[in-house]
Amino acid sequence: MTLNSIGLDTDQTKELAGDLNILLANFQTYYQNLRGIHWNILGKRFFDLHVKFEELYTDANEKVDLIAERILTLGGTPLHTFDDYVSVALVPVGKNISEDEKAVKLIIGSLTELLKIERTILKKSGEIDDEGTNSMMSDFITEQEKIIWMMKAWLGESI
Ligand SMILES: [Fe+2]
Repeated sequence: MTLNSIGLDTDQTKELAGDLNILLANFQTYYQNLRGIHWNILGKRFFDLHVKFEELYTDANEKVDLIAERILTLGGTPLHTFDDYVSVALVPVGKNISEDEKAVKLIIGSLTELLKIERTILKKSGEIDDEGTNSMMSDFITEQEKIIWMMKAWLGESI
């Protein structure tokens, strides 16, 4: 076993960087979903939803950068082309969504997929003592679970 400069197993860390690339690609899909509904939303709730979706995509954009820089910190190379993103995306792609309930359901569906990927990374990072990635996943999971609760509440549904 060889340790890298941050004291983690080199091979295991590179493998984890690969998993983080899957998360990165899916976050980009989520981000683009949010841009789409921010632009295309119609109806009497336009003003509040337009602003809410901007708030969410701004947050997603910051997380994309955190994930990419974590990949670099672990010795990997962040995926950065659309064709790479499409090839590993698991998050549903929303196209031409202008109806408010469909938009909110797209957010829930996207976050549900991101949570699955994050929980896998949380487990693996714990197993290799990668606290930096582990705590990042922990924070993401907590925040996204709360967003899902609020989106479900908006739909009039319980979690
Ligand atoms: Fe805008």
